[in-house]
Amino acid sequence: MSGTEYKSSSVLIDDVTLHLGRPVTADHQWVGQAEPLRSLLACWLVVAADDLPLAPRLIGPPGIGKTTLASVAALRRDQDLYIYQCTSDTRPEDLLVTPVLAESGKISYHASALVTAMVRGGVCVLDEGNRMSEKSWASLAPLLDHRRYAESVIAGVTIHAHADFRCVVTMNDDESTYEVPEYILSRLQPTIELGFPDRADEMEILRYHLPFAREQLLQLTVDFLQRAHGLDLEHSPRDGIHIIRYALKRLAQADSDAENEPHPLSADAAWHEALQKVLGDEALDLDRVAAERQRALSASAAGAAGLSLDDLFFGDQGQGGEQSPGSDNPQHPSPPGDDET
Ligand SMILES: Nc1ncnc2c1ncn2[C@@H]1O[C@H](COP(=O)(O)OP(=O)(O)OP(=O)(O)O)[C@@H](O)[C@H]1O
Ligand SMILES: [Mg+2]
Repeated sequence: MSGTEYKSSSVLIDDVTLHLGRPVTADHQWVGQAEPLRSLLACWLVVAADDLPLAPRLIGPPGIGKTTLASVAALRRDQDLYIYQCTSDTRPEDLLVTPVLAESGKISYHASALVTAMVRGGVCVLDEGNRMSEKSWASLAPLLDHRRYAESVIAGVTIHAHADFRCVVTMNDDESTYEVPEYILSRLQPTIELGFPDRADEMEILRYHLPFAREQLLQLTVDFLQRAHGLDLEHSPRDGIHIIRYALKRLAQADSDAENEPHPLSADAAWHEALQKVLGDEALDLDRVAAERQRALSASAAGAAGLSLDDLFFGDQGQGGEQSPGSDNPQHPSPPGDDET
């Protein structure tokens, strides 16, 4: 890294001073699911003099623990952690170096969390990477392959990553995101997938975050989340944490207002209120939501395969012989003698 001198909060690269950011002070712990954490740590190993670390993508539904896992991995390696929150508004210069007009009237250059991690040899989590546009991703192509550098057009410098620099990109699989271009995805390898925790892990996660929560609320929440996971609905540990927190606050409030409350608030009632307030009315009837979702999925699959809904839901047998009168569906002709006229 010729031409680079380090100072505590700035660095000089090719005569341009870059002001560096601060690492995130996080005290997270990872509960359960050891395998994705091991996979991520493996990606960051360097096993020979010519070897390079990998920059994997960590995928999974919202609120499942992606950012937490990436942060814990950085702490396990005893490295500074930098988190860059990607959004649809992120411009290439935001990702790298931003010019700021100083009081003196001069322009000063501020390094992003990513560039600070590159310079200091920290870990950068590019969080929610698939919210970012192709244009911004393009500026990272050389950083994410063997070249390990980024060019700031604004500051007119090429920034080389420190040998200890590590990177991971988290990605949600929800709909409000861009398609990450293929040439970038081919650099973000391998894919580490985070699935929903099992019952024991989910209970431990909730207990870890809410050690003061009463047992009944924990049990109700884990039962709910596990049912939701079983039905393939995307309710996450984060939702569970919010539900319990709100229920606990309502119970504490009811206790302190006991004189004015006509009826004492039970833990069960507080929990149901919290469930409805956090996740909406739909969450009160998971089976119906799951059935509707299944119907919508089947309908779109049928559309793709050129089948009708009747083909899917009634098949060859019909529905136990019941047929709507006057049906002219050749697959389900009215049974003999079923003519009402
Ligand atoms: N295995 C786990 N151990 C400890 N905490 C967990 C675990 N899984 C989830 N959590 C907790 O659940 C909450 C949500 O986690 P986090 O923010 O990391 O999810 P995310 O997948 O990054 O969500 P998003 O997609 O919205 O960014 C946090 O409070 C986190 O600490
Ligand atoms: Mg996250």
